[in-house]
Amino acid sequence: MLNPSNIIPSTKSVVIFGSVSSVGRAIAHEFAKQNYSIILCDINQDENERIAKDIQIRYKVFCDTTFFDAEDFDRHHEFISEITKKVCGYPEGIVICFGYMPPQEEAQKNFALVKKTVNINYLGVVSVLEKFLEKFEERNHGFIIAISSVAGDRGRKSNYIYGSSKGALTRYLEGLQHRFARSNIRVLIVKPGFMDTSMTYGMNLPKRLIASPEEAGRIIFKSWQKNKQVVYVKWFWRYIMLIIQHLPRFIFLRTQL
Ligand SMILES: NC(=O)c1ccc[n+]([C@@H]2O[C@H](COP(=O)([O-])OP(=O)(O)OC[C@H]3O[C@@H](n4cnc5c(N)ncnc54)[C@H](OP(=O)(O)O)[C@@H]3O)[C@@H](O)[C@H]2O)c1
Repeated sequence: MLNPSNIIPSTKSVVIFGSVSSVGRAIAHEFAKQNYSIILCDINQDENERIAKDIQIRYKVFCDTTFFDAEDFDRHHEFISEITKKVCGYPEGIVICFGYMPPQEEAQKNFALVKKTVNINYLGVVSVLEKFLEKFEERNHGFIIAISSVAGDRGRKSNYIYGSSKGALTRYLEGLQHRFARSNIRVLIVKPGFMDTSMTYGMNLPKRLIASPEEAGRIIFKSWQKNKQVVYVKWFWRYIMLIIQHLPRFIFLRTQL
């Protein structure tokens, strides 16, 4: 048990999946500053515990961890009851930050990588969220922040395995926004553009297009506070993707995107 016994959960709580990712960590800090109780869920439990200790010390909030494997669908029910015990009920909100991007050319030749990509980026998210949403709907309150990607906005040869899994995720989240349009449940879709994280490590990306995870965390948190429905972390990505999406097919097919 990580939490010092003198810190009890506050009434506001958030569960962050993929909390070891740099952006998940940055978002956790933003919620901790607002005195939220936090449950950090990740496949890397050692690092997760280090992050939780750091948050407890810095912000004096309740912060606990749970091991979570997005691909282990059969354990998700059990896992949700573990979380509800920790925060004494269902949390106010869920943040989804886990993800997996295989090298495109390898994935084209190896179906196991395609399956892993879809399992983590799409099925893992749906499996977890639907289990919370039933309760959110019943009490008519809650929020979801989920990180999708601009890669899902149009299929491109350089990244279409990852892109199609994120495209499916975006469609799913749009469906949730429609489902909850008349309720008090909010869904924020995040399309970060490039972020400087382990996922993009070693890629030769133009510096001006990249956001740091801390900057991304701040922008995502502010967008959630402002009740936005979609956020492109660096604002210009909205326009870059608008152009890419609307390029006529005969031009698009000649590009090297
Ligand atoms: N970086 C970018 O430019 C960019 C752009 C658009 C969208 N995104 C999205 O942003 C989110 C955060 O990614 P990131 O850039 O911060 O990269 P990252 O550090 O690689 O984060 C991905 C996280 O997902 C976790 N994860 C992988 N497989 C998992 C599984 N089976 N179950 C549970 N967790 C698992 C990873 O844990 P391990 O490290 O232990 O494997 C890691 O903590 C992802 O959804 C990504 O698709 C990133």
